[in-house]
Amino acid sequence: MNEPRTTSVDLPDADATRELGRRLAGELRAGDLVVLTGDLGAGKTTLTQGIGAGLGIRGQVASPTFIVAREHPPLAGGPALVHVDAYRLGGLDELDALDLDSSLDEAVTVVEWGGGLAEALAEDRLEVAVERPRGGVAEGEQDLEAGVRHVRLRALGRRWADVDLERLVR
Ligand SMILES: Nc1ncnc2c1ncn2[C@@H]1O[C@H](COP(=O)(O)OP(=O)(O)O)[C@@H](O)[C@H]1O
Ligand SMILES: [Mg+2]
Repeated sequence: MNEPRTTSVDLPDADATRELGRRLAGELRAGDLVVLTGDLGAGKTTLTQGIGAGLGIRGQVASPTFIVAREHPPLAGGPALVHVDAYRLGGLDELDALDLDSSLDEAVTVVEWGGGLAEALAEDRLEVAVERPRGGVAEGEQDLEAGVRHVRLRALGRRWADVDLERLVR
C-alpha cells in the first residue's frame, strides 16, 4: 500500500509544463508537499508557476532568488503556496529553521531541488523529476532553453494512494 506509484509524461514546451502544474493544482490541498528535482533550467519554476495559477494565488511565482522561501496567499479560498528553494539551504536543520512544519498543514508546499532534503518533512509527498532529454541532438548543439521535458511523477504515502496519476498527466 505504501509502494510509491509512478507515471511519466513528455511536455513539448513551457506552456505544457505550466498546464501540468495547473492540473496538479486541481488535486493539491492544504498540507500537501511537492518535491521538484531537475537541473538548472529544467523547468521546476515553470511548473510551480502553473501550480500557482491553478491554486489562484497572489503574486507572481518567480525563481526564489535571494530568498529561501516565499509564501503566496490565496486570492480566494484555498491553500496558500509556499515555494521553497532548497538549493539555498545548507541542510535539513535550516529547512527546519524556516518553521515550514507549521505552515505545512495550511499550505501547499513546493520545494525546488528538494531531493535529499524535503523528504524528511513528510512521508506523504508527490515527487516530480524534470529532465531535459539529451538524445537526438549532438552535444553542444542543443538549445538549453527550448524543447521537450521528460517528467516523472512519483507519489508516496497514503495521501496519494487513491489518486489516479494517469488522469493528472493525460
Ligand atoms: N517543456 C518545457 N518545460 C519547462 N520549461 C521549458 C520547456 N521548454 C522550454 N522551457 C524553458 O526552460 C526554462 C526553464 O526555467 P525554469 O522553470 O526557471 O527552470 P528551473 O526552475 O528548473 O531552474 C524557461 O526559460 C522555460 O521557458
Ligand atoms: Mg527554479
